[in-house]
Amino acid sequence: MNNIVRVKVPASTANLGPGFDSLGMALRLYSYIEMQQVDETCIVLHGEHLDGIPTDKSNLIYKVAQAVFKEAGVEVPELSISMYSEIPLTRGLGSSASAIIGALVAANALIGAPLSKDHLFTMATQIEKHPDNVGASLFGGFVAAAWDGVDAHYVRVAPPEALEILVVIPHFQLSTSKAREALPKSLSLQDAIYNISRSSMLVGAIAAGRYDLLATAMKDKLHQPYRAELVPGMVEILEQAPHRGALGAALSGAGPTVLALVHKEETRKQELENYMLETMKAHGLQADTLWLQPDHNGVQNISLMHSGSFLDMIKGEVEA
Ligand code: HSE
Repeated sequence: MNNIVRVKVPASTANLGPGFDSLGMALRLYSYIEMQQVDETCIVLHGEHLDGIPTDKSNLIYKVAQAVFKEAGVEVPELSISMYSEIPLTRGLGSSASAIIGALVAANALIGAPLSKDHLFTMATQIEKHPDNVGASLFGGFVAAAWDGVDAHYVRVAPPEALEILVVIPHFQLSTSKAREALPKSLSLQDAIYNISRSSMLVGAIAAGRYDLLATAMKDKLHQPYRAELVPGMVEILEQAPHRGALGAALSGAGPTVLALVHKEETRKQELENYMLETMKAHGLQADTLWLQPDHNGVQNISLMHSGSFLDMIKGEVEA
């Protein structure tokens, strides 16, 4: 049994427009989890983004860790868990997926890594019910994934070098379940074709670095139109952002965060950021913005990279 395990997990954006429940990209915004076997369970959460999360055995990280031990046929009933997160909760940036991936990888490492990464991916997808965010947090980069209810499959593509991501994060939480309730039960063949063609083109455009195709490839008729009422200003932003410096724009996951993909040499970055913030404000929404880059590594075991306390490690990571 390893003494103490520390993992660093990226946030993610899912769907990227047309790739509902199938496309995801990892982002350089992180959660950190430390896990250790102890005599009595103790869960400590650090930072503003984890307010309200349970610190008893109903905690998601504890429960996911127990699922790993059960799968591996070992017993580790008592755990010390510490977590710090930079990822805002319930905003469409994969906070729960990052917690699930962190818990799976940390728990697996704690018992000598008997389960493969692909096995952990399937477990993560079964817990989250869609592979898009968990795939990105686990493998990093841009991930196209499929799940049949039992097995999860994926292909990872390195995002093009010059890609930056502007996320506009409204000051309200939107649960994935509420955002899924807004969706219709079936789609027309015409809309299905619309999405399949764009989603396929998006994977090709990311793989080939075809920035010029992103505005077209990120269009969607499967979920964004139905979620528009939940995120005032979104429709206008998605239409206008490509005319104001964005390569393409989408609702991030189930929202309410809206994102724009931007070329790093783009000269209208500030104009685009102001436009997105002002449009949300005009619809009564306050929001924060972040400029992010794709994460290429996925979850990392950083147990050996830092000595010192968990909080000293976070300080070192955040300053790095
Ligand atoms: N694909 C999911 C959805 C992502 O849009 O509902 C949720 O994070």
